[in-house]
This record gives sequence, structure tokens and C-alpha cells, in this order.
Amino acid sequence: MDDKKMSVVIFGATGDLTRRLLFPAIYRLYAHGEWVPTRVIGYAMEDWSQEKFCGHIEENLKNFVAEFDPAVWGKLKQFVSYQSGDLQVKSLARLKSQVQGPAVFYLGLPPQLFSQAASGLGQAGLNEEASGWRRLVIEKPFGWDFDSAEALGKALEPWWKEDQIFRIDHFLGKDTAQNVLVFRFVNRLMESVWNGAHIAQVQITYAETLGLEGRWQYYDKAGALRDMLQNHLIQLFALVAMEPPSEWDSTDLHNHKAEVLRSVRQIPEGKVGEFAVAGQYGPGSIQDAAVPGYVEEGGIASASHTETFAALKFYVDNWRWHGVPFYLRSGKRMAADYAEIAVQLKPVPPKLFGEGLADWLVFRMKPDEAIDLVMWAKKPGLEQETKQVILSAPYKKAGENDYSAYEQLLLDVLKGDQSAFPRFDEVEQAWKIVDPVLKAWAGRAPEVYAAGTQGPEGQERLMDPGLSWRPLGD
Ligand code: BG6
Repeated sequence: MDDKKMSVVIFGATGDLTRRLLFPAIYRLYAHGEWVPTRVIGYAMEDWSQEKFCGHIEENLKNFVAEFDPAVWGKLKQFVSYQSGDLQVKSLARLKSQVQGPAVFYLGLPPQLFSQAASGLGQAGLNEEASGWRRLVIEKPFGWDFDSAEALGKALEPWWKEDQIFRIDHFLGKDTAQNVLVFRFVNRLMESVWNGAHIAQVQITYAETLGLEGRWQYYDKAGALRDMLQNHLIQLFALVAMEPPSEWDSTDLHNHKAEVLRSVRQIPEGKVGEFAVAGQYGPGSIQDAAVPGYVEEGGIASASHTETFAALKFYVDNWRWHGVPFYLRSGKRMAADYAEIAVQLKPVPPKLFGEGLADWLVFRMKPDEAIDLVMWAKKPGLEQETKQVILSAPYKKAGENDYSAYEQLLLDVLKGDQSAFPRFDEVEQAWKIVDPVLKAWAGRAPEVYAAGTQGPEGQERLMDPGLSWRPLGD
């Protein structure tokens, strides 16, 4: 990366995302010699001086970067500036004198401001590529439902081409997500069993013990289905279920992901209860400490129907996955921080060793990253008895290549590699999957589950005969 004239403009520079995730990522890339843009321009409404902005970033780097070194920050700081302004075209146009050559415009803004910011940048001419490429980065959520996602797409269309738009879904920057593709497509053993003839079910679980973390204003409007399933978990599903691309090429990858997303069978509007479960945490305890229920959290109305847990089941109408149920679930204030993609193979005929002996392949994301193959072997002794064995491959040792998803994704934006960023048609398809559920849940009270547990009991009703949810943790 040696483009000396490159600029990165961060909108929402005084906000949470910038201090917790973006600047720590920039700092670490810089410290490792991966980041050489000439300028990082923070842009926000606050009437701050350059000094105040840098002081604020420094304070936060000390908290969020374990190996913070004042000497490194001293060098990086020389490239950092701050400009206060709103999203009016004439204010944005003031950036023109500073931004010359290739530039990234990173919208770390509340979603309701995305279209104003993106079109304002266009109207100010900052999208023009005469002096170098121009890229727009948008954080999720890309819309609140199918219709608003379409409207956002339309608002961007006159100003930004698809190859200029990078939609961040930070799960795609996680190692395990990328490893699903590598593991699937580099091991011959995998392809022969990766279909409905051999696979009984797939479960994708992302359980957190965390609650709202001060984000109630956003979360109470979003809920778990929009916050986690529509984007992160459906993207993971696409990686598990897509056809192999012929080469490692962004367009090929997106085409195959979009294709499998299009094959997801629509959840029938009148039968949402058979395919989706909403839950909301009540009071309970997390690691032996009492925690309040969702509606007792500061800022949340006592009548809030926002779901803090969502589970979905769907089928995929293509040859590979015919008849295989896919289960996706995520919740806040659950029993454990536990996340995995678990693929269960069909049981073998029972006559030899008994009923229900089926293997699992598990890509674990939390609490550690590993691949487990859960199989059966002979129990030592004189009888022909079986016992479960786990062939476990820790993905990496503590500290080994430990970079954040944001580091990976920021670098990809600078390189112009769109493979880990959802294309617009993928986003549209993901909304199509969840839209009937959003409609059915509107105004309905979710089932309450005690904080610190496995989630609402109602999730059991999604399970096809003979299948059950995997417990969170051991
Ligand atoms: C975010 C959600 O996108 O992902 C949060 O908005 C969630 O609610 C987070 O906690 C989980 O991702 P990670 O990488 O922090 O585990």
C-alpha cells in the first residue's frame, strides 16, 4: 500500500464506532506497517479543535489497544486531522480542498443519515474519480426492511456505483467466517458429504451474555432479528451453503452467495410461528450477578416488544440442500458467550451400534476459535461399545495473528477487494428472508426468558422430529 495521496474521511468521528473499533484498527495496522494513507480526517458535528479530537482518540486507544505505544501514536497523529461540519452539500464541499487523490468515505453514522451523507458527497462531487478512486463505506443496517433497503439503494444509485460501495458486515472479516470457505474448498473430504444426502441439519448460533451496552436507542428499534440474523447470521449461512466458486474472485463469490440466498424457501406469512421464535430477556443472573430484565433497562419502555432473542428455521430449495433444515439463532443475556456453526451428519443405520449415532462438524467462533469433528469410536474394553470422541483443531493459539475483523476489512477497502462485503442483491435477498417474520412480529409480545439461560423454551418448536438444539457451551 504505497499510495501517498490516499485519504480516509470518517463521518461520525466523535462517535462510539470510531473510538472503539475504527481508530484501534487503524492504529494497529499502522503499528504493523500495513497502513500508509496520508490523511485520516475525522468529520463530525461537534465544534472540536484538532487537539481535542486527537486527545479523545488517544484516551480511547489507551483503553482499546493492549500494546498502545505513545511513540507510534505520535507518528500516526501527524496524519490525523479533524473537521467539524454537518451533512449539507456546501459543508461537505469544504472537504474538497483536503481530499485529493484516492479517498475512502466511511459513514460511521446513524442509519437514518446514510442516504443524506452519501448523496451529499455525490452532489459535492467527492464521488468523482478523476484524481483517483473514491469509495464509500457503509455500516449496517442497510435499511430496516426490504422496502427501506430498496429506497437506500435507490438513493445511492445516482452517485455511487456498486464497485465503489463497501457494505461492512464485520462477521465476514472474522477468521472463522473466512475459514468456512477455506476448509470447505481445500479439503476433498468435505465436498463428498456436503449435501442433503449426508447432512441432517445446520445450526448457526451466536449467543452473548452482554446486554444493551448503552445502545438502547438503536437496539430497541432494531431487535435481534435485524441486529444479528438479517446480516451476520444469514451471511454465515451463505458461506456454508453456497456452491464452490471456480476461482477466488469477488464476483464469483458474490454470484454464488446471491444464488443460494435466492434459493431459500420463503417463510409463509400465515405460518411464521412454525419457523421463527422471538424472545425477550427478563430478570436473571449472569455469572452469579443479578441483572435486570430488558424492560427494566434504562431508556426502555415497560411495554417494549423488542426481541432480544430471535431464532429462524428455513429450507433451501436447490439440489444440494433439499430437505435440510437450517436453524439460525442469536440472543442477548444468554447463559454463555458461545458462537458456532454446527453441521450434523445423518445417523448411520442403527443395527450395528444403536440409534442416533451421528457426527457433528463444528466451526466454533466463541469462546475460542476451533474446528471440532465430533465422532464415535470404540470404547476401550472387551465389549463392542462406542463412545464419543472429539477431533479438535484449535484454529490459532492465543496471540497468534490476532487482528480484528475491522483491520481486515479496512485493508480490503484500501485494496479495493470487495469479496468480504455483501453485494446489494445479497442484502435484498436477506431482507426477503426476514421480512415476513418482521411483519408477523410487529406489535406482538415476545416470549420472556430469564437472563442467563438457554433462551425461550418456544425455540424447541422449530425443531424437526428427531433433532434438538445444541446446548450453549459444554
Ligand atoms: C454487532 C451487533 O453487529 O455485532 C451487536 O450490533 C453484537 O449487538 C455484535 O453484540 C457481535 O459481534 P462481536 O464481533 O462483537 O461478537
